[in-house]
Parts: sequence; C-alpha cells; structure tokens
Amino acid sequence: MFQSTFPKVQEVEAFKERIAAELEDGRRRSLAYTDIDDDLLVRQHSALMSPLVWDLAHVGNYEELWVLRALAGADPTRPEIDPLYDAFAHPRKDRQNLPLLGPAEARTYIAGVRGRVLDVLEGLGEADLCGADPLRAGGFVFGLVLQHEDQHDETMLATLQLCGRPGLVRDGGLPPGRPGGPEEVFVPAGPFRAGSGANAWAYDNELPAHDVDLPAFWIDRHPVTAGAYAAFVDDGGYAEPRWWSPRGWRWRAEQGVTAPLFWRREGDAWWRTRFGRDEPVPAEEPVQHVSWYEADAYARWAGKRLPTEFEWEKACGWDPAAGRARSYPWGDAAPGPEHANLGHRASRPAPVGAFPAGASRYGAEQMIGDVWEWTGSWFLPYPGFRGFPYREYSEVFFGRAYRVLRGGSWATHARAVRTGFRNWDLPNRRQIFAGFRCARPAPGEPAEGA
Ligand code: AVJ
Ligand code: FE
Repeated sequence: MFQSTFPKVQEVEAFKERIAAELEDGRRRSLAYTDIDDDLLVRQHSALMSPLVWDLAHVGNYEELWVLRALAGADPTRPEIDPLYDAFAHPRKDRQNLPLLGPAEARTYIAGVRGRVLDVLEGLGEADLCGADPLRAGGFVFGLVLQHEDQHDETMLATLQLCGRPGLVRDGGLPPGRPGGPEEVFVPAGPFRAGSGANAWAYDNELPAHDVDLPAFWIDRHPVTAGAYAAFVDDGGYAEPRWWSPRGWRWRAEQGVTAPLFWRREGDAWWRTRFGRDEPVPAEEPVQHVSWYEADAYARWAGKRLPTEFEWEKACGWDPAAGRARSYPWGDAAPGPEHANLGHRASRPAPVGAFPAGASRYGAEQMIGDVWEWTGSWFLPYPGFRGFPYREYSEVFFGRAYRVLRGGSWATHARAVRTGFRNWDLPNRRQIFAGFRCARPAPGEPAEGA
C-alpha cells in the first residue's frame, strides 16, 4: 500500500499510526482463522500444510526476529522455540510432531511480541523512517512482517479449504459478471519497465527494476473460466498426452488426476466442494485449484500458451502513454471494491467481467485478485538481484523448479500484491488459489478489430 517513496518528515506520526492500524488489521484476520477448536488447530490436515497452530506462532516468531531482534537489537524472548518455527528446519509434514506451543500459549506469545513491537514502532522517528538504514527506511521491516502474516493467512485459508472447514463460505459483496466483449487483448511490441522499483515494501525478488523488450502478443482479457476449463476436461483433455508436457503427463498419470482439485462429476454436471459445502461449479468463475501442469495442458489444447511473467506484467501495469509502470492495472490508487476481489471479501473468485474499473491500459481485466495466475516462467532472479534482508525468502528458491504466479487471489490481502509482485510454487501444487490465463504470440499486424 505504501507504493510510493518514503514518508515525508511531517507525515512520520501519521505513517506510524497507519502501520499500527495495519498490524492490528492483519492480526485480526490471523486470529479469526484460528478461532476454532484446539483439535483442528493442532492437527496436520495435509502433508502439504502446517498445523494451523504452527502458522499462528510462526508469524509471531518472524515478527520477533525482524522487529525486536534485527531492528531493535533485543534478546530472544524464548530462544528454545526459534528452531521449531524455522521453516527450513522442519518440513511441513513433520511439524505436527514437534513440541509446538499449544493454541493458548501461541496466542499469548504472539500478543506479547506484538506489544513490544508497538513499543519499538512508537520509538522510531524521522531519522529512522526517512533515513538510510534499509530495514528502517519507509518502514521496510513492518512491510516485511505485515506481508508475511498476510501470506500465512492465505496459507491458513488453503489449509481450511483442504480440511473442509465450514463457516468460511462468504458469498456476498461481489459484483455480477459482464458477459461478452473481446476474449483477448493486444499488447504491441516494445520495451517496458519490469519490477517494483517505486515500492518501498517490494521484496528483493521484484528488484531491481529493469527494461524488458517484448514482441507483440495477445493475452486473454480474463482468467480462464471454470466453464471453459470444463470443456477441455469434457473433450478428453486428461486422456490426451499430446496436450501435456512430458512431466505433466507423468504427474497426471501417477496421481490419477482427472479434473481440478475439489471437483467431481455428478451426472452431466461438475460439482465442487468449497469450505465443506457442495455446489455446482459456476461456469463464469475463473477456474481455480489447477496445477501448472494442468494450466499448461489447457493452453496447448486451446492453441495458446501461458504468458511469460513479463508478458503478464506488461499487460497488467504498463502505461505506454506515460512511459511508466503502474502499481495496479487501474493506476496507483489502493485497491477498492470496484477494482478487484481481494482480502477474502468473498470465499471465491468473482465471475469474469465483474471489474471493468480494474482494467489495465491494454484492457486486461481481473489481473489483480480472484485467482493467482500461473505463468510460463521459472522463478529466477532479475539481473543485478541482491538478496535482502535474508537469503531464505527468495534466493534459495531460484531455479528451474518453481514457476512464477502473478496477481494474487480472492484470499490475498491488498497489502501483499501489486503489478510487480512475484509468487512461486512447484508445478504440481494445486491446493493454492491458482488459475491462469493464456497468451499467444502476434506476428505481424494486430488482427482486425483490435
Ligand atoms: C511466497 C508464498 C511462496 O509461503 O512459502 C512465507 C511466502 N515466505 N514465509 C511461502 C513465505 C516465508 C512463501 N511464498
Ligand atoms: Fe513464513
């Protein structure tokens, strides 16, 4: 949200109040998702996910590490628990067997850390927030812990969806879809500036900003809908190796995958389970819970391909007339309800066409919110990358194992997404709220009607 530069001197107090309010807002969400029976909190619901009580204490431990220790130089409050909440020390599937803090203890621990964090924030002045120390400048460390908690809140929602937790279905408040209009938008050839150079809370992997020259391409105006995806399934797409990458085909066969996660066939119709509720799959909603392999296969079936992450980013945020990148498709204004479906206002993506005011300069819609979008790109560093403030956020994941996702989902907090934000996951993962849109190269002139 603090997409511009560092606060002006006279705004320091207001800036600190805003950070305190955002911390409170993020915490309210974590506490709401974990306001369930202790038994559900401590259980391992899936080998892919941590017990929820681990996420809860981990966000507090991360806040302690970065605000209290790295920034304020405090001693550890409970040094013995650090290794338990180090994500690299224990794989998710083993966390249930660790001597974790219990639910009540975890809440007490994170509340204690938070109290001291607010004291540290109170003590910061202009020299800190507007100075040269990169942890303090622009409140960077607060952006780090806020976005971290937001990301774990989304992870907790994915866990709650996996365990069929009822009571999280929220359906109100989404605008209706708008059928019709062009299926694709055209993005002319030319350079654009990639990266989140103007954002003081950008992660290291979004930097440095740099020019990328792209040939012309077409990109889908909307994410691929569940209805369009069902046509691929019903056309025998999961039985046709020619649509799949070799690895994707092997994954599909080994796992016996025949449809998106949480889908099932009822007679002629597709049904799904959403937070424990059974319902027909809405045809106009972006498809979600598909792996990269499935997205890649669909794109080939459709005669297209996945966009590269830079194609996606240019279509999302580049303003060719101004020659600059926007923080969001619609401009630099913080996301409003008319722009995008973010922050769990509903427990689902919105139907395509729901956000005309959220369109990009090129006319692409719903790039921010609704579903994370798989891209064809591996998660690799930008030229001149510098790991900051720690290698384990991004750097250790770079390489040809993880694929980049862009744009955030309905579950993503507005603070934790922007045009340049990069998420990543393994190509077989589909418990995340991920869908995709397709692209294709456009040799020669734009087709008629563009
Ligand atoms: C950026 C979503 C891939 O959840 O593994 C959380 C974010 N990093 N704690 C993840 C993260 C450290 C990360 N993703
Ligand atoms: Fe984490």
